Amino acid sequence: MDVDTDHTVAIIGGTGPQGRGLALRFALAGVPVVIGSRDAERAERAADELNRALSPAPDPAIRGAANTDAARAGRIVVITVPYEGHASLLESLRESAAGRIVVDCVNPLGFDGRGGYAVEVPEGSAAEQAAALLPDSTVIGAFHHVSAAVLNDLARSTVDCDVMVLGEDRTAATAVADLASCIPGMRGIYSGRLRNARQVETLTANIVAINRRYRTDAGIRITGV
Ligand SMILES: NC(=O)c1ccc[n+]([C@@H]2O[C@H](COP(=O)([O-])OP(=O)(O)OC[C@H]3O[C@@H](n4cnc5c(N)ncnc54)[C@H](OP(=O)(O)O)[C@@H]3O)[C@@H](O)[C@H]2O)c1
Repeated sequence: MDVDTDHTVAIIGGTGPQGRGLALRFALAGVPVVIGSRDAERAERAADELNRALSPAPDPAIRGAANTDAARAGRIVVITVPYEGHASLLESLRESAAGRIVVDCVNPLGFDGRGGYAVEVPEGSAAEQAAALLPDSTVIGAFHHVSAAVLNDLARSTVDCDVMVLGEDRTAATAVADLASCIPGMRGIYSGRLRNARQVETLTANIVAINRRYRTDAGIRITGV
């Protein structure tokens, strides 16, 4: 694959709404993007659809690949799969994501007739689970509260929200905050270590409740920064 691995962002599970939306916004900002799937052809089809949705077509174009090939191509590897598939997927990426910054935006939530709720994660949070399963990667938590509906709505020229960025490695956290900040309207804000990821991930259940009550796609803003 002919990609610039210095800057490429790989989005694992990028065929879903969150991955597609992030891919669109990064591509609009000029970031090389490769989206991954368990099925390489599905990823290529999704990449074609995203390139067609952007007019003019992004340069470089969004690419599609199998998840492991996508992870190898990325400097930053964003994980956008449901929590149910999180652990087994990360185990399969241990080698291909080695040496990369892995950004986990997975919210371990369940849903029932009363709305969303936090589910227990043995490691404490999805991000800490990622760090345990990917010892040779630098894991950062980010993008938990960014609405896929807003990301995918290209009629919106800005995505007006802040992104809480968590991690042990300040350099990697800054790289991910800078990536968030390349999307107009969005700011990446360093928000602490991975041991504090749980409350950030589970805050999404409250945002889901806000969205249901006010029929909106809410985001968060940090004031004073
Ligand atoms: N949707 C939002 O607004 C939003 C906002 C913030 C954060 N998030 C988080 O982002 C993640 C993705 O959200 P989403 O709504 O895009 O999810 P999704 O549509 O349910 O899944 C995304 C992709 O993950 C892959 N996938 C599904 N089940 C899998 C499994 N068991 N193992 C491995 N891969 C699997 C699928 O791709 P392939 O079949 O092509 O492999 C699917 O297209 C979630 O963890 C969510 O908490 C979502």
